[in-house]
Amino acid sequence: MRLSSGAAATKASMSTTPNSIIGAPTPRIDGPLKTTGTAEYAADFHFDRLVHAMPIGAPFASGRITKLDASPAESMPGVLLVLHHGNIGPLFRTVPGDDNATNSEVRAPFEDEVIRHWGQYVAVVIAETLEQATAAAAAVTVEYAPDTANVRTSLDDYKGERKTVSNRGDVDQAFDNAPVKIDAKYITPVETHNPIEMHASVVVWDGDRVTLYETSQGVVNHRAVMAQVLGVPIENVRVVTRFLGSGFGGKLFPWPHAAMAAVAARKLNRPVKLSVTRRMMFSNVGYRPRTEQHIQLGATKEGKLLALRHEYVNNTSMLDDFDEGCGEATPYLYSVANLEVTGGMARRNMGAPMWMRGPGAVPGLYALESGMNELADELGMDPMQLRLKNDAEKDESHDNIPFSSRHFRECFEVGAKKFGWERRTPAIGSMQRDGKILGWGLAGASWVAMRLPCTATVEFCADGRLCVRCGTQDIGTGTYTIFAQVVYEKTGVPLDRIDVILGDSSLPSGPMSGGSMVTGSVLNAIAAGADNAIKRLQQIAATTQGSPLRGAKVETVAFTGGRLHLKDQDANSGAHFADILGAAKLNRVSAEGKTVATWEDPKAKGFSLHSYGAQFVEVEWEPDIARLGVSRVVTVIDAGRIINPAAAINQVAGAVVMGVGMGMLEETRYDERTGQPINGNFADYIVATCADTPDIDVTFLNYPDPIMGEYGARGVGEIGLAGVAAAITAAVHHATGVRVRELPVRIEDLLKSKIVSV
Ligand code: MOS
Repeated sequence: MRLSSGAAATKASMSTTPNSIIGAPTPRIDGPLKTTGTAEYAADFHFDRLVHAMPIGAPFASGRITKLDASPAESMPGVLLVLHHGNIGPLFRTVPGDDNATNSEVRAPFEDEVIRHWGQYVAVVIAETLEQATAAAAAVTVEYAPDTANVRTSLDDYKGERKTVSNRGDVDQAFDNAPVKIDAKYITPVETHNPIEMHASVVVWDGDRVTLYETSQGVVNHRAVMAQVLGVPIENVRVVTRFLGSGFGGKLFPWPHAAMAAVAARKLNRPVKLSVTRRMMFSNVGYRPRTEQHIQLGATKEGKLLALRHEYVNNTSMLDDFDEGCGEATPYLYSVANLEVTGGMARRNMGAPMWMRGPGAVPGLYALESGMNELADELGMDPMQLRLKNDAEKDESHDNIPFSSRHFRECFEVGAKKFGWERRTPAIGSMQRDGKILGWGLAGASWVAMRLPCTATVEFCADGRLCVRCGTQDIGTGTYTIFAQVVYEKTGVPLDRIDVILGDSSLPSGPMSGGSMVTGSVLNAIAAGADNAIKRLQQIAATTQGSPLRGAKVETVAFTGGRLHLKDQDANSGAHFADILGAAKLNRVSAEGKTVATWEDPKAKGFSLHSYGAQFVEVEWEPDIARLGVSRVVTVIDAGRIINPAAAINQVAGAVVMGVGMGMLEETRYDERTGQPINGNFADYIVATCADTPDIDVTFLNYPDPIMGEYGARGVGEIGLAGVAAAITAAVHHATGVRVRELPVRIEDLLKSKIVSV
């Protein structure tokens, strides 16, 4: 993989120091902890007298528990407790609006005896060892009265409400009158989040105070939810997530096992560990729902868009209203006078869906960008030219407000050059290399940008170290490192003397690691905290007995590379902050910085904030043996200023690999009789691995977004996945002539190809 920094980048740089650490590829400061196995993930926390929990799931998708007999299990060796509806005691739902607490499922665990999806927890066994808990879980006998379940895979029977997401002009008329039309349906299947680190809760009570060691993308929200669900004061709840083995959105909000473990630990007065098994990961902790989308595009013969309709339906569970939001990027991506986006939710006897990397926009752009590729073919036009012709200059879905920083066009132009797009010959099967047919396709990408409100503190310590704190967490993207980079940039104190403290709900309130928003949000608070802490140091330097700067006017005191000195003198003339603190007999001095949310910032309100990208994909097709592979991807991303290109490339390249999975491999399939995910394991649910990974070339345009704050960063966690699948299916069409409109692309689809040999 290669990083290319666009020439424009350097020009537009807002760097304040000549050799800024901002924008420099920086190895992860937490790398040594991870590579030596000393980083503690949720299930790594061990406590004296810790016991183990194993849940029991329902064996079908709809019905009612008629009898639950725990006594055979209770008499087994080591078994301490079997919790179920009959004895769990009160658990509560979250209070709408209070502390913005957001839960994954409406229903509290064991709230009633109704079964609404396969695998729904009906009981949990707690025993001295995991083996004892697992054995006893098999001995709990449950009788059920099954009911007819709706686990129908297709959503084409949906007759319910369709909410309007966006509309302008008159789509019906414009589409009817358009000289060139595309009218197509696209399907994305259920995909399951499969982070390396599975869900786990380790819960410890100390009197009426509880600490949960979790794998959470949002410790602050997790605390609020657990306080409400358990019915304990929020100040008595602490949630710790030091490291995450990723989450992809599956760990944004708490799942029922956390409350189950907390109740068990309270009843037993012993620490409880509940590790969700990989199989349970497929039924009890969310998934990207199935989407069925209808795209209508109308255009002039020259390729100017006249009408765009985007209708989608996604499945949700029986109790939760989960809107995938496939129309997220559709309303602003292209200039089109007549547009309508609507969405609906179809109930199924399945677990609650959850956001998965690039929710809404990723499946939505798969459909929209596939439609655009089909339109280009229909017009006999280059698909890139079609996009450039319809590039939006303002946000037509929001009163024509300007974009804060949009370089969608440049993404395509730079990508085309790197990919060699001009060498493409459009005829199907017309390109070959080394006895394989090549297919080339492209698609656009976009993702929302936003700043969430948050607080960070920066602290100077008498031992010469610095500490930055924020109640956010590092999902694995490099959050620890970029926080240290900002502190380094502000203070000149090198990275090995900076401690980054995250992943604890008792820290100043930080955002969840979601929506690619941590970077754009927290860096501003850290920068302000550093500035404020430096001001306090300058004050102390100017007033402390024994300080060489005592008596100086505060305005004349400068701070350079950790040293305080007079502005008109060399940094070495002054004193190190550690010595100033020593002279003042202070252990430390700290200050807080805050980030104002974009929706509360008058300057940001008038702008449409998004990231953009272009994906260029090459597939190799071997018709004789029906083998398809993605061989090459060029990705150009416009995500504001890139703080740490090393970590950012990882994010985008990883997202591209996930896009190969989305395009060609990933699909959770359900048994329509029982609702069981039949490929709910790592042998049968196929994710892209090293062998599926193409040559990936990642380029960042690196234009700072002036509306996002001091660093102009927008975040890169999700955008790299957007557009990949649509570019793959376009490349597949180019190679094989087969138009696949339902993901993932299957060998069965490609057997329809008329290209039978090279
Ligand atoms: Mo992301 S799906 O907001 O973790």
